[in-house]
Amino acid sequence: MTIRITRREFAILTGAAALAPPAFAQTTPAFVTRAIPGSDEPLPTVGLGTAQIFDTADDATRQKAAAVLQALIANGGRLIDTASVYGDAEIVLGDAIASAGLRDKVFIATKLEMPDAAELKRSLARLKTDKLDLLQFHNVHDPQQSLAQFKEWKAQGVCRYIGITSTRHVQYPAIEAVLEREQPDFVQIDYSLDDREAEERMLPLAADVKAGVLTALPFGRGRLFHAVHGKELPDWAREFAGSWAQFFLKYLLGDPRVTAVIPGTADPAHMTDNLGAMRGPLPDPDQRAQMVQFIMSL
Ligand SMILES: NC(=O)c1ccc[n+]([C@@H]2O[C@H](COP(=O)([O-])OP(=O)(O)OC[C@H]3O[C@@H](n4cnc5c(N)ncnc54)[C@H](OP(=O)(O)O)[C@@H]3O)[C@@H](O)[C@H]2O)c1
Repeated sequence: MTIRITRREFAILTGAAALAPPAFAQTTPAFVTRAIPGSDEPLPTVGLGTAQIFDTADDATRQKAAAVLQALIANGGRLIDTASVYGDAEIVLGDAIASAGLRDKVFIATKLEMPDAAELKRSLARLKTDKLDLLQFHNVHDPQQSLAQFKEWKAQGVCRYIGITSTRHVQYPAIEAVLEREQPDFVQIDYSLDDREAEERMLPLAADVKAGVLTALPFGRGRLFHAVHGKELPDWAREFAGSWAQFFLKYLLGDPRVTAVIPGTADPAHMTDNLGAMRGPLPDPDQRAQMVQFIMSL
């Protein structure tokens, strides 16, 4: 009689520690950056999303933000995504970045609701900077939306890159039209292992117009963690992921058209875990197909 055991059971039986989940954040020195399309500037592929978590500029929030920021920098990250409408987030981040002297070490992306000079001035003041790395038009819903004012600000040196965003699929036709016509440097859309609509038209179009892609909601606002609650990482995934977070993020980074993922977290340990997705191998196309099958089977 043949007894079949999994690699994990074999590891437990033999005490083979090498088959424990790899802690990429701690053990693998090199990490993945991707060039921003149209430039040769490398951007670390895992950033920080800040919606809803830093809404109130109280002491507890400020401490959390400072700790998450330190974890971001200590583990090779740079990109912070925020918005003028994320409560006090710009204030909390601006103060934390300035008081730690980190302005040169971070890539600040914020979003405006309108091409409005007063709103821009307020964001710059709150973020305590005179130049943004990326200025995005938040939730574009008009296919005729002009980016002329954003381009003018870029020409004036107020920002280095411009972008458009939306996570509402009903707005995707507008995003696609503006992306094609205005050709911003970046597009930010929702993309996660269980929400892959972006693969149909958005990612090919972004590649065509050479726009960088930032993926909002990479965990589906935490939905993916609920889906795998109480489950172990499958053995086949341990070759490239040391945690569920890295599994979910590496699915996205396995597509070379994705420039960076921006998971939201107020927890420095989660920030470190997420940044581990920049290290070690990425899943190949067959493994990505297996990941989709796995998540759809839950
Ligand atoms: N229209 C737009 O432009 C738009 C819309 C929505 C979002 N966004 C951007 O996209 C970013 C990401 O979206 P999101 O923050 O709403 O959702 P998300 O990144 O999909 O999920 C965040 C959730 O995952 C949890 N989490 C993070 N890392 C984890 C880890 N390693 N292990 C376990 N749990 C973890 C967080 O909890 P903890 O805090 O406990 O870690 C939080 O509950 C936003 O912050 C924002 O910057 C843009």
